[in-house]
Amino acid sequence: MKTQTKPKKKWMAKGYADELIPEGTDLRAEIRRMAREKNAVIMAHYYVDGAIQDLADFVGDSLALAQQAARTDARIIVMCGVHFMGETNKILCPDKLVLVPDLGATCSLAESCKAEEFEAFVKAHPDHTVISYVNTTAATKAVTDVVVTSGNARQIVESFPQDEKIIFAPDQNLGGYINSITGREMLLWNGACHVHEKFSLEKILALKAEHPDAKILVHPECKGPIVRVADKVGSTAALLKFAVQDEATKFIVATESGILHEMQKRCPEKTFIPAPPNDSTCACNECNYMKMVTMEKLYNCLKYEWPTVEVDPEVAEKAVRPINRMLEISAKLGL
Ligand code: 13P
Ligand code: SF4
Repeated sequence: MKTQTKPKKKWMAKGYADELIPEGTDLRAEIRRMAREKNAVIMAHYYVDGAIQDLADFVGDSLALAQQAARTDARIIVMCGVHFMGETNKILCPDKLVLVPDLGATCSLAESCKAEEFEAFVKAHPDHTVISYVNTTAATKAVTDVVVTSGNARQIVESFPQDEKIIFAPDQNLGGYINSITGREMLLWNGACHVHEKFSLEKILALKAEHPDAKILVHPECKGPIVRVADKVGSTAALLKFAVQDEATKFIVATESGILHEMQKRCPEKTFIPAPPNDSTCACNECNYMKMVTMEKLYNCLKYEWPTVEVDPEVAEKAVRPINRMLEISAKLGL
């Protein structure tokens, strides 16, 4: 739920705060000071700007961020990422103040699966178990049996009997990939991530021809032809781990280019080449929603403790079950 009641100032009605910062403010130092004094934990996804990742208390993939939210004892959670991530935190921690620097930072996957349409689809298939990717709204999670992330989707799908009838939503690319590696025939919702969908196979193969020693790392939100040329397919955290542990020294990275920051930090001696999208001359592929999170908005968000993420308690009560189920299965599987 993105409605914001009683904005403290008129400009706040826009849903973010990037004004009125005194000139010369040391944003980084002030953000850290406020976080300490207000007992706030700053969490960041690998796709946000590198400078924000660097000052966060915790950086992770979607699974790790949900796990971290479930165990934090901070008073405030500041989620530097997109709206569904803040919602997941709020659902898991209803008594905490959950802030996002920009309420408008949505996700094309979450937007592709409107709760009312999805509920009708679910009702039309009453004999199916409903598995939803974490990249969904709280209302869509409320009509889901178990949530997954790209870091545990395979294992959670495989925890069901082979002949279980399953609806998988909303990412048809991730769902198709899981079908292909598990031999399942899950019914797929036809959503997609507008960032991962636009990687160019042709440009990736051209890069590979130029750097034959490079390994190709691919996020499973990419289309099938890109996934099929991968040396490693996985969540952002899994790709990062592979890059750190593998003996290769050069990698072509087909996921949002923010992850290259942590890869380069952990492996300063290795070379990371962002895989290019098919629609521009730009060498890397960025998520415009993730990049809406700026240092200025983070500063004001902590200062004013605004904007908050709110979830209707009735929706939250239903949505928390499939999220907790995911966390329980993941804990059992050691993920
Ligand atoms: P992971 O960090 O779980 O790989 O998710 C990728 C993503 O698209 C988040 O929006
Ligand atoms: Fe959503 Fe794609 Fe952006 Fe991730 S990269 S937040 S899936 S739009």
